Amino acid sequence: MKHVILITGTPSVGKTTTAKALTEKLNAEYINLTDYAKNNNLILSDDKERCTSIVNEEAMQQKLAQTINTTNNQNIIIDGHYASAVTPTQHKVQVFVLRRHPKELKTFMEQKGYTGNKLYENLQAEIIDVCLGEAVQFHAGRICELDVTGKTPQKIVEDILDILQKRKTCIVGTVDWMGTLEKEGTLDQYLKLT
Ligand SMILES: Nc1ncnc2c1ncn2[C@@H]1O[C@H](COP(=O)(O)OP(=O)(O)OP(=O)(O)O)[C@@H](O)[C@H]1O
Ligand SMILES: [Mg+2]
Repeated sequence: MKHVILITGTPSVGKTTTAKALTEKLNAEYINLTDYAKNNNLILSDDKERCTSIVNEEAMQQKLAQTINTTNNQNIIIDGHYASAVTPTQHKVQVFVLRRHPKELKTFMEQKGYTGNKLYENLQAEIIDVCLGEAVQFHAGRICELDVTGKTPQKIVEDILDILQKRKTCIVGTVDWMGTLEKEGTLDQYLKLT
């Protein structure tokens, strides 16, 4: 049976860096959903305000099912912030939701050129657990949440392999940025609208 591993999380959290390193370790098939949408004509329209694309999720799910079924590789790694919503559930799916302290995430996002509304929208999405919520909606019971704050890509991959190879159990629901930021006295900084 094919094993589908999702690497999801807020934009800039480190999905692609992690997923590519894991792909090498497992000799897996790698699918980056941003590229996949472009290459397979799954983009419905561009959201100019948010500099992002709107994809046909239903068509993407069908196409992904095809790709997963036809590849000879037993391990498929899917990288994308909406991966949970479009991954077919008939295979053995394991979801890793990468989480990063908003302060560090903000730095990563700024390095990628995010500013203004788009920056704060994404930071707020991290704070209110949007990607985790999507993962729970579609793949409950198959989710691991990883706080990757301050961790090297190598360490993150090690943690993922420990879980996949059952040396560690996976946990979900321990990240609480709202509480963390409140304690640090910085929550207000993130909730502002620009
Ligand atoms: N563990 C890490 N430690 C330090 N820097 C990292 C780590 N992971 C990723 N980065 C850096 O953070 C930035 C964002 O990483 P990456 O592109 O992997 O994120 P992403 O989640 O795939 O983003 P997007 O949603 O835009 O595809 C890159 O500049 C990358 O080099
Ligand atoms: Mg990426």
